[in-house]
Amino acid sequence: MSDLLIHSMAEFGDLILTVLDLAGAATVAEIGAEYGAMTQPLADYCARTGGSLIAIDPAPAPDFIDWAAGQPHVRHIARPSLDAMGALSGVDAWLIDGDHNYYTVFHELVAADALSRRDGRPLLVLLHDVGWPCSRRDMYYAPDRIPREFLQPCHPDAGVTLDNPGYLPGRGFRGAGQFSWALQAGGPRNGVLTAIEDFCRQTETDGRRLLYAHVPAVFGLGVLFDAEAPWANAVAEAVMPYHDNPLLAKLERNRLRNYLTVLDWQDNQAVS
Ligand SMILES: C[S@@+](CC[C@H](N)C(=O)[O-])C[C@H]1O[C@@H](n2cnc3c(N)ncnc32)[C@H](O)[C@@H]1O
Repeated sequence: MSDLLIHSMAEFGDLILTVLDLAGAATVAEIGAEYGAMTQPLADYCARTGGSLIAIDPAPAPDFIDWAAGQPHVRHIARPSLDAMGALSGVDAWLIDGDHNYYTVFHELVAADALSRRDGRPLLVLLHDVGWPCSRRDMYYAPDRIPREFLQPCHPDAGVTLDNPGYLPGRGFRGAGQFSWALQAGGPRNGVLTAIEDFCRQTETDGRRLLYAHVPAVFGLGVLFDAEAPWANAVAEAVMPYHDNPLLAKLERNRLRNYLTVLDWQDNQAVS
């Protein structure tokens, strides 16, 4: 994807670390490490606060594996999130940035919530890719890991572009051998934001109240937390200026339009 398109949770680093600090989070679990751009500041945070970091990623960059092995505050688990989470305990905060599809994110939230309740901790989750294109459209790193009833029709060569709920064969923003897009955006059980909404609806039916802030930049950051947590007001105050901020949303749309235009030029050049 290159430097032309910033895409890491690290872009939200200051805000994420502020939220962790306000919540007094000591044990942090990060799902989806890739090159470790966000893992590094999280590891520094844990070193500073005497906490620990669990980084879950079945296929991060090779350099990341060597780096993590040398970090006293970091434990890397090389398994998919839903296989790994059940064995964890004492997690204060979760970063979710692994496989960006409804099935995975919904079940990651259910698992994080169950563990938090079992361990007597308020839920705190920071989720990436809550904005376009994953908000209402699944993407799959490993479609074979998704149960059939949850898997949207998808293709590795399908590309996506703004204001088009369908797909572009071999054009637009596509997975380049890394992942596949669902061929259609929208509808039930499709996309990261849909998973968050369904999870929140389910917890409300259980009589619990969660708060959710939506930062519309760099593919979107969601901050989901227990409204009854002792630190809930402080975290709400910290995230409020960013929540659904129209200026950020405008800049993000402009950034995406520029990037998609560059892809279009590149694709035109490749066929000429
Ligand atoms: C977008 S990258 C993460 C970027 C990183 N969080 C950052 O902010 O720089 C997604 C990563 O999730 C990993 N991944 C894919 N499916 C996963 C799963 N089911 N559980 C955990 N990690 C997964 C991929 O191997 C990839 O490294």
